Amino acid sequence: MSNNILKGKRGIIFGALDSKSIAWKVAEHAHNEGAKFVLTNAPIALRMGTINELATKTDSIVIPADATSIDDLKSLYTQAMDELGGKIDFILHSIGMSVNVRKGKPYYEQNYDWSIKGYDVSAMSFHKTMQVAWELDAINEYGSVIGLSYIAAQRVFHTYNDMADNKAVLESIARSFGYHYGLRKKVRVNTISQSPTDTTAGSGVAGFDGFYRFANDLSPLGNASGDDCADYCISLFSDYTKKVTMQNLFHDGGFSYTGMSERAMNTYLKVMEDEKNS
Ligand SMILES: NC(=O)c1ccc[n+]([C@@H]2O[C@H](COP(=O)([O-])OP(=O)(O)OC[C@H]3O[C@@H](n4cnc5c(N)ncnc54)[C@H](O)[C@@H]3O)[C@@H](O)[C@H]2O)c1
Repeated sequence: MSNNILKGKRGIIFGALDSKSIAWKVAEHAHNEGAKFVLTNAPIALRMGTINELATKTDSIVIPADATSIDDLKSLYTQAMDELGGKIDFILHSIGMSVNVRKGKPYYEQNYDWSIKGYDVSAMSFHKTMQVAWELDAINEYGSVIGLSYIAAQRVFHTYNDMADNKAVLESIARSFGYHYGLRKKVRVNTISQSPTDTTAGSGVAGFDGFYRFANDLSPLGNASGDDCADYCISLFSDYTKKVTMQNLFHDGGFSYTGMSERAMNTYLKVMEDEKNS
């Protein structure tokens, strides 16, 4: 599917690590829709991942930046505007990491140094990417900034750990910065609350396969894939959604509003039947 709806738009895409990354899919779709953009990731991720392949495929360049570093962000925006020939129209913040999750520390035994690191990377970096852009006046009117979230910001998901708190802050930053950015510079800011997706960050959460299957069984449309998420991002980068801002937008096949589905009910009925017969 390609309608060239991002023709003439310039962007920055944070967070493509490998071909499973949601940001990778967004870059592919944005390229198909005619956008020009810069890819960026933390220097260490550039060494581990395969982002150069994506750069070749999408005719883009890669500029390293740790999204928690103000200096890196300043240099990223300055170089990106130079390279792309003007101010930016869209930004994808597709960044998340919890040291507590990585190291298997449960929510009630957090190492707070790790919690602060995860908070800086997963939530505060969203504020930093916008504050630096604001200071440099780097985003055009009706530009669109998107962060990626998860429904653990509203409801408890076993083992999602301190990332739940980070996502709640991320969504709050979208509202607050969205207000100020809208008022002063007509820039829109939203978060997309995405279904469980099989990526490096997603599958790093303990019991990910259970999360994935449960969400898929509950959602009338089934889980949204990374490619589906990319399509949604494209619509939010486009001029067709100019007045959508300060929202947390569920992109989850209906999961967020379903209490019990036929598939989930049948699964429980089968378990009960098996228990009776054992
Ligand atoms: N996969 C899922 O199930 C799922 C569901 C909902 C939301 N999300 C969110 O989507 C976003 C993208 O994750 P993904 O699933 O594509 O996984 P991913 O592992 O491919 O992407 C995470 C990215 O964050 C980058 N990153 C980490 N620290 C950074 C830093 N200091 N500076 C710059 N970049 C840094 C990593 O290098 C990586 O590219 C995250 O915010 C994640 O929480 C994922």
